[in-house]
Amino acid sequence: MSSLRVCVIGTGSISDLHFQSYVNNPDVILHGVYDFSKERAEEKARKYGVNRVFGSLEEVYNDPEIDAVSICTWNNTHAEISIGALKGGKHVLVEKPLSMNVAEALEVEEAVRKYKKTLQVGFVRRFATNTKVLKAFIDNGKLGEIYYAKASCLRRLGNPGGWFADKERSGGGPLIDLGVHIIDICWYLMGRPKVKSISANTYHTLGNRGNIENLSFYKTADYEKGKNTVEDMANALITFENGASLMVDVSFTLHAKKDEIQVKLFGSKGGAELEPELLLISEENNTILNIQPQIDHLTFDFANAFQNEIDSFVTSCLTGTNPIAPVEDGVEIMKILAGIYEASNKRGVVNF
Ligand SMILES: NC(=O)c1ccc[n+]([C@@H]2O[C@H](COP(=O)([O-])OP(=O)(O)OC[C@H]3O[C@@H](n4cnc5c(N)ncnc54)[C@H](O)[C@@H]3O)[C@@H](O)[C@H]2O)c1
Repeated sequence: MSSLRVCVIGTGSISDLHFQSYVNNPDVILHGVYDFSKERAEEKARKYGVNRVFGSLEEVYNDPEIDAVSICTWNNTHAEISIGALKGGKHVLVEKPLSMNVAEALEVEEAVRKYKKTLQVGFVRRFATNTKVLKAFIDNGKLGEIYYAKASCLRRLGNPGGWFADKERSGGGPLIDLGVHIIDICWYLMGRPKVKSISANTYHTLGNRGNIENLSFYKTADYEKGKNTVEDMANALITFENGASLMVDVSFTLHAKKDEIQVKLFGSKGGAELEPELLLISEENNTILNIQPQIDHLTFDFANAFQNEIDSFVTSCLTGTNPIAPVEDGVEIMKILAGIYEASNKRGVVNF
């Protein structure tokens, strides 16, 4: 196989980063596109020079000319479409989260095993340049044993509305939308330890704050002021079997001064900040050093990270190498997300 013939399923906001990255990859032919909004699919086909607009998911699954699909649909369709595409003999890049719950995630994992195709989960932060640089330092032992990590992704006003605010289609609010990324990136850099216990809280205190005026924020096309069934804030303490712990908090809205993102790791030999900017912390000659790597992307850069993610997926499909974000990791992260919601619901600790 010399080129990879790709079909993009779901042509909303994030699909642009998939399309553009495929266009930039010389080993890819953008063969098709499908969205149940035909108008949107046709518009993207025109914009990115895609050969064919499909009329249904079945047509996509059954087309032998498609080698791989990118799934950029609502969360409640990720598992079903992944399984359909794998069954049709396609490789799959599925946007995060892998699924709505652990049972679905395990079904996808089973399908990957059964149909022997590549499936990569859209944990795009793993592919960011600052992450790759930090991972190389961690793999070389610069941080020693990482025993604590702390991550925050706080929006003071930023519930996108539409399907994001509808638990039936999203599976939850900022935890499943934003938390999935920062939990994954800490877990990945900590060496993917097995989760032992979780305590957590979710809050439905401020709603979506559709009343706020004179301050703009991203809204989906079908935003409605009054509609919201997801949490507006979540926090959790996740403890792993090796004794390490991860503390995390996320919000769609909060009475905070400004938005912030922080990802910090603390080890026995050194520490690191991945966000808001890559920084290494170490000790030498009885002196504490804050070391700033000199690289192009000190912080997460969408275009750069998505290009790396898509290039890596294409290589895995064409060469059979294991994806950097495999289905097993999607399952583990789903266990953690589900554990956080469960711990919050029962107002106690969830043990694994
Ligand atoms: N990796 C990231 O940083 C990142 C960022 C944003 C969104 N996402 C993920 O990408 C996915 C899409 O998010 P978005 O912001 O593009 O949403 P969006 O609402 O802008 O677009 C979703 C599109 O999918 C289509 N769709 C939904 N279900 C479908 C189905 N069963 N068949 C065909 N089309 C279907 C909708 O018509 C819509 O055009 C979500 O899972 C989200 O979590 C990831």
